[in-house]
Amino acid sequence: MSSFPKNFMWGGATAANQLEGAYQAGGKGLSIADALPGGPDRFKLVNAPDFDWTIDESQHTYPNHDGIDHYHRFKEDIALFAEMGFKCYRFSIAWTRIFPNGDEKQPNEAGLKFYDQVIETCQKYDIEPVITISHYEMPLNLVKKYGGWKNRQLITFYERFARTVLARYYKQVKYWMTFNEINSAFNFPVMGQGLVASNGADDKQNVYQAWHNQFVAGAKAVKIGHDLDPDLKVGCMVLYATTYSYDANPVNQLATLEQNQAFNHFCGDVQVRGEYPAYTEKLMNKFGFSFSDLEIGDEDLATLKDNPVDYIGFSYYMSTTVDVADKNREQASGNLIGGVKNPFLKTSDWGWQVDPIGLRIALNELYNRYRKPLFVVENGLGAVDKPDDQFHVQDDYRIDYLREHIKAMAGAITDGVDLMGYTPWGCIDLVSASTGQMSKRYGFIYVDLDDQGNGTLNRYKKASFDWYREVIKSNGENL
Ligand code: BG6
Repeated sequence: MSSFPKNFMWGGATAANQLEGAYQAGGKGLSIADALPGGPDRFKLVNAPDFDWTIDESQHTYPNHDGIDHYHRFKEDIALFAEMGFKCYRFSIAWTRIFPNGDEKQPNEAGLKFYDQVIETCQKYDIEPVITISHYEMPLNLVKKYGGWKNRQLITFYERFARTVLARYYKQVKYWMTFNEINSAFNFPVMGQGLVASNGADDKQNVYQAWHNQFVAGAKAVKIGHDLDPDLKVGCMVLYATTYSYDANPVNQLATLEQNQAFNHFCGDVQVRGEYPAYTEKLMNKFGFSFSDLEIGDEDLATLKDNPVDYIGFSYYMSTTVDVADKNREQASGNLIGGVKNPFLKTSDWGWQVDPIGLRIALNELYNRYRKPLFVVENGLGAVDKPDDQFHVQDDYRIDYLREHIKAMAGAITDGVDLMGYTPWGCIDLVSASTGQMSKRYGFIYVDLDDQGNGTLNRYKKASFDWYREVIKSNGENL
């Protein structure tokens, strides 16, 4: 008997800026993703003191410009998802297709028409769309002209964007998320908040101010959704990295608790509970400012209180380990969230610490903290795939990774966790967010495209494609 409920939402996840390409088609404006250079140095480059978001094709590649050309091939791609038996498909709406500069009053109809078609195609196959309203792709103009999310005016612009897409699609789309990995700004505020060193990313007060503005904007989106249809489910989305103390030293245990508060729980606590947690002042004092230094509108706290999210979407790729007592402890090089090396874990090709049991722990921690449904909306293994001369990829390593994480979810369900669904990341190969590489692949579907932009863009099923189809068909029984 499968541990997964009958209506479990099996699917896959993508983000507009990482796969659509066609970065200027149909009146689309430039997003911050369009200004991110390709390659593993991209975060370093954008945090240079003189970085001004200029797109300079003589110096850099810009892989997000063309993505995998999903904009022109979405029908073929969604048909492949349907062949795997997807029950749902998580994707995002590029803000810049709807409001090219972010601050217009009227939306761009051509952009809306594109998503009409994407949604219709999902419906044709009985695939439930799950939409992230903002996934690392805010309009570049909102960064250049307004300084990104630290500016309160962004609330109005996002509200307009959210209202436009919610009103247009609420009859066809029941599941929404407000901001992708909102808490990731703690480590890299560029993608979610449009903050880099040259516009204030190093001053943590800006990051917390930006979060506050995003919390209010997200709460307004929840309200808009519920006003349109009280049955709509609007969730938050956090990056969760299960956090261990290296040892039983109480100093490390306390540091672990604090790391959990600062990274894993702060944003969720506000969005799920509708109020700032008790430890807020402590977090801010650590960076030399106080909650009262933030610009908070008269109605903001009531807006948060009245509009908590309906569910918690989260990504899970790795765990992290804390040791503040031993400064010489080896660091987990490559782990996105940092931390020290965990001797019990293997790492991916990119140094992320692979830890399926950590997912079971994450599910228990989140569910028992909030008692609201959870949705694992990202998980997967970024790996170098080596296709044979027929373009077949025997990606057993990916199957192993996913199998163990699915077992962990089944375990969490037996622990009593209410889990809605699972959408592994990059169900079709796409551009990596952190490195701008194509060679960091997650998909069940191989896309013939390399880091330099060469390739036919043809799609090929990997071994994991058939495997996942069987997983879905058996509702998680046949792993
Ligand atoms: C998450 C993001 O951080 O992880 C995705 O929501 C991203 O946008 C995914 O692509 C995997 O990360 P990366 O850097 O390997 O693409």
